[in-house]
Amino acid sequence: MTAVAPAVSAPIAAPAHAETILSVRDLRTQFFTRDGVVRAVDGVSFDLKRGETLCIVGESGCGKSVTALSILGLIPAGAGRIVGGSVRFEGTELTTLSEAEMRRIRGNRISMIFQEPMTSLNPVFTVGQQIAESVSIHQGLNRRQAWDRAIEMLSLVKIADPKRRAGEYPHQLSGGMRQRVMIAIALACNPQVLIADEPTTALDVTIQAQILNLMLELKDRLGTAIILITHDLGVVAETAQRVIVMYAGRKAEEAAVDELFRHPIHPYTRGLMASIPRRSAAGRRSQVRGRLQEITGIVPSLREEIPGCAFAPRCGFAVDRCTREQPPFEAHRPAHFAACWEAARVVGTPR
Ligand SMILES: Nc1ncnc2c1ncn2[C@@H]1O[C@H](COP(=O)(O)OP(=O)(O)O)[C@@H](O)[C@H]1O
Ligand code: SF4
Ligand SMILES: [Mg+2]
Repeated sequence: MTAVAPAVSAPIAAPAHAETILSVRDLRTQFFTRDGVVRAVDGVSFDLKRGETLCIVGESGCGKSVTALSILGLIPAGAGRIVGGSVRFEGTELTTLSEAEMRRIRGNRISMIFQEPMTSLNPVFTVGQQIAESVSIHQGLNRRQAWDRAIEMLSLVKIADPKRRAGEYPHQLSGGMRQRVMIAIALACNPQVLIADEPTTALDVTIQAQILNLMLELKDRLGTAIILITHDLGVVAETAQRVIVMYAGRKAEEAAVDELFRHPIHPYTRGLMASIPRRSAAGRRSQVRGRLQEITGIVPSLREEIPGCAFAPRCGFAVDRCTREQPPFEAHRPAHFAACWEAARVVGTPR
């Protein structure tokens, strides 16, 4: 079940004229397995503006993490690779950089936070050492300066008694505190872009809201652009400025967050929305009205090439053409794009 939307302070919209910092074009990433080729990301394009929060949302297995790993050059070499497209960061093409060049960007100018901090933190070093190591590698600080910066970062992510906590090991901290440490590591070098892949999924709802709030607050203070990946439209509603809905390795819909929630076009987006717990009239988030609707059916295997719309087997609006021809991703309203042959009929049907 989707978690109830955490109460997070409203994001400040990036100005429309803001400069594009990251530009992804027709990105295609495949894995080569014994059972065939997995088209995990199949022609995804988007721009991220300086200081903006872009959410990528979709069910498990739709290519969100692989999109993030592709941007960061972290697709495991033996398993798969980027087979097409481009990722430009501040004008530099990343897909053709050497691993050494990529390492100078990763964790420094583009940082990342993953779902489970225990797998990203090293159990044998204190959290202070881990933050200090990251800043000394990337920013050339000496040991003393790096340690001071570690404590400053722990205090910035609102960890009480940062001097003492800096000397503790990951297992001595709670899940929420470990995720704060990951945010501290990710932001210690003042990155231009932060990619957060399901950063709060492993945490309970109250802690989720605190961590999301913290990320947004620091983003506004530091001017970092964020790509926030989530399966939870509740999180999107509370954090995003712009949203990309992904399905089966492709974009299904893209719009500014208010526009998307007011006028969803793609039947998949509408299905996701129907499965978010509603707030009560009083706005209290813990009160769920009625039963949640689920989208029936499952995400398709990405092993076979899908000639038409990948959502067709689950779609109540599907017509013959949907299984034969891939719908173009095009504007159906101003600055609001969707890939659906039957968009006009869907929009005319009450939710
Ligand atoms: N190392 C891998 N080898 C083979 N297939 C993979 C690998 N990593 C991811 N995939 C496949 O790529 C698709 C997209 O996965 P992913 O991006 O992790 O989805 P999610 O949207 O849940 O983050 C899935 O079908 C997944 O099984
Ligand atoms: S293109 Fe067809 S199958 Fe796909 S979402 Fe639209 S109506 Fe449904
Ligand atoms: Mg994922």
